Amino acid sequence: MRKQIAAANWKMNLTLTEGEQLLDQLLSNKYELNENRQVVFAVPAPYLAMAQAKLAGHTNMAIAAQNCYSKKSGAYTGETSVLMLQSLGITHVVLGHSERREYFNESNQLLAEKLNIALEHNITPIFCCGEPLQIREAGTQNAYVAAQLEESLYHLSADQLKQVVIAYEPIWAIGTGKTASSEQAQEMHAYIRAQLTEKYGELVANTITILYGGSVKASNAKELFSQPDVDGGLVGGASLLVDEFKVIIDSLK
Ligand code: 13P
Repeated sequence: MRKQIAAANWKMNLTLTEGEQLLDQLLSNKYELNENRQVVFAVPAPYLAMAQAKLAGHTNMAIAAQNCYSKKSGAYTGETSVLMLQSLGITHVVLGHSERREYFNESNQLLAEKLNIALEHNITPIFCCGEPLQIREAGTQNAYVAAQLEESLYHLSADQLKQVVIAYEPIWAIGTGKTASSEQAQEMHAYIRAQLTEKYGELVANTITILYGGSVKASNAKELFSQPDVDGGLVGGASLLVDEFKVIIDSLK
């Protein structure tokens, strides 16, 4: 079975104490996790060490950075490098979130470089893609997402691609309370997998975890995750609430 993942994206939220309390409360519950059912917490950079320490003794859980830079080290004030992540034991990094693309002008080309450096350092990229509302309304979302995949991922070898987690996050569903229907999510996930099949073959494409993101909550997680090509979720707002995120974890296939 493909790896199923419930990933929390805290974005730029919570104080240190609030973050500690949230993790303590979430980690005090029992979850049925295994190699194929995992939980990832993408926390703000200043909390990476704290969050990593809290996971000690918890298996099949990981901490992710929300971004990293495309260079290893040097005079890049304010940036976080993969070497820093590695030195903290961080195993995952979210790349290409739509908020980074929109507010920080991250291009598909820059993301290709970030993917390379993460993979070279054995850090699993959670690569985000997804279309804005006007593209969905024009009905051209498939071509839009296909271009994101092509320009950021398709230079990778099959072995490298197998290390990547993809998150489809339609921008019109992020933080809006407006979730894609499970049919819309499945349709795009199947399309992404078909594109990967064309490029890398079915064996490889079938191993790639594709998460859905955009207003995932306790009340819709099960339905979304039950779709054959939806392998879990990347969750913003609802990941900040203990009772919500616990149900979301328990909704994994
Ligand atoms: P919401 O779950 O708040 O819609 O955010 C989704 C998201 O952007 C996760 O990365």
